[in-house]
Amino acid sequence: MLFFGGDYNPEQWPEKVWDDDVALMRQAGITMVSLGIFAWSHLEPREGEYEFGWLDRIMDRLHDGGIRVALATPTASPPPWFTLAHPSALPVNADGVRLTHGSRDTYCASAPAYRAAARRIAAALGERYAGHPALAMWHVHNEYGTDCRCDLTAEAFRTWLRDRHGDLDVLNEAWTTAFWSQRYSDWSQIMPPRATQYLPNPAQVLDFRRFLSDELLGAFTEQRDVLRSFTPDIPVTTNFVQGGWVSVDHARWAAEVDLVAVDHYPDSAGPGAEEETAFAGDLARGWGGGSWLLMETAPNLIYTPGRMHAKEPGRLTRHSLGYVARGSRGAMYFQWRQPRGGAELFHSALVPHAGADSPVFREAVGLGRALKNLATTAGAAPPAARIAVAWDAPSWWALQGAGLPAADIDYLAAVRQAHRALFRAKRQTGFVFPGLESFPESLGAYSMIVLPHLYLVSDRAAAALGDWVAAGGHLVVGYLSGIADPAGRIRLGGYPGAFRDLLGVRAVEWHPQPPETTLLLDDGTVAGRWAERVETAGAATVALYTSGVLAGAPAITRREVGAGVAWYLSTGLDDDSLERLLGTVASEAGVGPVLEGLPRDVEAVRRDDLLYLFNHGPVAASLPLPGPAVDAVTGRPLHGAVTVAGGGCLIARLSAV
Ligand code: GAL
Repeated sequence: MLFFGGDYNPEQWPEKVWDDDVALMRQAGITMVSLGIFAWSHLEPREGEYEFGWLDRIMDRLHDGGIRVALATPTASPPPWFTLAHPSALPVNADGVRLTHGSRDTYCASAPAYRAAARRIAAALGERYAGHPALAMWHVHNEYGTDCRCDLTAEAFRTWLRDRHGDLDVLNEAWTTAFWSQRYSDWSQIMPPRATQYLPNPAQVLDFRRFLSDELLGAFTEQRDVLRSFTPDIPVTTNFVQGGWVSVDHARWAAEVDLVAVDHYPDSAGPGAEEETAFAGDLARGWGGGSWLLMETAPNLIYTPGRMHAKEPGRLTRHSLGYVARGSRGAMYFQWRQPRGGAELFHSALVPHAGADSPVFREAVGLGRALKNLATTAGAAPPAARIAVAWDAPSWWALQGAGLPAADIDYLAAVRQAHRALFRAKRQTGFVFPGLESFPESLGAYSMIVLPHLYLVSDRAAAALGDWVAAGGHLVVGYLSGIADPAGRIRLGGYPGAFRDLLGVRAVEWHPQPPETTLLLDDGTVAGRWAERVETAGAATVALYTSGVLAGAPAITRREVGAGVAWYLSTGLDDDSLERLLGTVASEAGVGPVLEGLPRDVEAVRRDDLLYLFNHGPVAASLPLPGPAVDAVTGRPLHGAVTVAGGGCLIARLSAV
C-alpha cells in the first residue's frame, strides 16, 4: 500500500461534516490521515482532564471507512491553560522578550513543566489508542525546530557544553574566547546567544544550534519511548521541516525515527518547483537510508514570497509521484479540508473552500486511483544513485553567521544549485552526510561526489574523502569548503584548508564579488559571486580568470590522485556552466544520464524495474524506452517509444531489463 492522505483536523468541524469527510476520503482513495496534530486543547481542556470521546468517534469512523491513522501527539501547540499555569515554559527570544500563546510552537523545550506535560499527553494517547485497529503510526509533535534563550535553556545549554567539551579550557579554546575578552572562568557565566552589543561569537552560536538540535531530539525521543512502551510494534515518527530557522540536524535525527517523514513546500512557482521536489526527495531518501515518507506538501497553492500560485492541472500528480519515484512510501498533504478560520485559512487543501466539486479534488481522485494501482510498486528498491552531493547542517548554520566575507553567502542555495545542475544533466543523485560517523563507509556507493560550501569538516571526513578519491572517486570541491574545523576554527596555511593537499591548490586570498558581477573564464565558463587567488601545487589548471586583478590566475583546477580525480571550483559557476561541468565530470566518472536524449522538460527516475517519466513542459514528448514494458498504472503494454502528454507522466515497469 502507498500512503495517500494528509493532516486531518476534525476538531475544527461539527461532527456532521465528518461523515462527508470519510465519504470523500473513500472517493479519493485516501489510505491514511494524520490526526490530532494541533488538538491538545481539545484533548486536555484542563490540566489532567481528558476528552477523548470525539477522538474515539472519529478513529472508529475512519476505521470503518478503511482509513488508517497516523495519530499525533499534539505537543507543538500547548493550550492556553498550560502557558498560564507555567509561564516559565514560554519561550524567550534573543531580545529577552517572553512570548505568549496565540500562535503555535510557543513553548521552551528545556522547561521541565513542558516536557512533563508532553510526556503525560503522549502517555494518555498511548494508553488509550494502543489497541485501536486504525492506528498505523505515531506522529510525534510537528516540525521540531523552535528556539528559546531563557534561563532554563541556559542551564540546559551549559550541561550540554560540559558534555561536549568536558573542560572549560577546552571550551575557551574551541570558542576562541581570547578574542574580545570573552574567556570564561566558570561554567555559570556562559549564556545562550542573546542580544548583544555587536557581532556574537560564531562558535557560541554554532554550539547553541547544535545544542538546540540535541535538546529537541531529547524531547522527541522521550515521547517516542513513552509511545513504544504501549505499542512496541507501531512505528514512531515526526515530520522533518526544512528552513533556515530550523536548528535540527536531520541527518542525525534520522537514526532515532522509525520512518523518516518529511514536509516539503517548494517556494518556486515555475520549473524550479520540480527541481526542488527532486532535491527534497533525494535528500529525504538520503536521511531515510532509502525509504521515507512525504508527510506534507501543499495540494494546490505554492507559496512564493508575497504570493500564492495555483498549481496547473497535472502538477499535483507530477509532484506527488515525483516524491514517490524518489523513494517516498506515498504522498501526504497539508491538509485534507481547508479551514474556515484560523491562521492558515487560505492554505490549500484537498477539499478546498469551494468543496469537492473543484479541480484539486478531482485531480486528487485521479491520483488516488493511480496510487492504488501502483500499490504493488510500494516495495520497489529506492532509486540508486552513483553521484552524491554533501549535506551538512552545521556548515549551513556556520554560514548563516555574522561577520562572514559576504552577506549573501547562501549554503542552501549552493547545495540546491549543485543538485539542480545534476538534475538538469539528467543524472540520478543522492546525498552524503560528512558529519555522520558512518560517512567513510557511505562513500563506497558513489563514483562522484560534489561538496558545495562544505565549510566545516572534520579531519576524519576529509581523510575519508582523500582515500575515496585515491581509490577512484571523482570529487568536485566548491569554494568555501574545508575552511574550518568542526568548532569553526580556521584551518591555517591557505584555503580550502582541509582539501588543499588533495586538490593540489592553495588559495591565498578571497575576492567576494558583488551579485551583479559576471566573471568570464577563458574556457567560456560564466561565473560570479566569488573569486579567489589560487596557486596550483600539483593541480592542472582547467580554466583561468580573464579579468580584473585575478586575470591569468587559475579559477578551476583538476588533479589526478591515484585512480581518481579531484576538482576545485574557486568561483561560483552559473547554472549552465555548472550543469556542463558536472555533466562532464559525471561522464568521466562513468555515470551517464538516466535515459539518453531526454528533452529539457522531461525528468526520468529509475527505481528498481520502474522508469518514471515526468513531462514538466507543455508539449507532448515522445520518449524511447530501453526495452519492453507495461504501464504500471494501467497495465497497458508499451513498446519502443512512448508519448507523454505535456504536463503528464508515465510509469513504465520494464520487463527483464
Ligand atoms: C507545515 C506545517 C503545517 C502547516 C503547513 C503550511 O510546515 O507542519 O502545520 O502550517 O506548514 O504550509
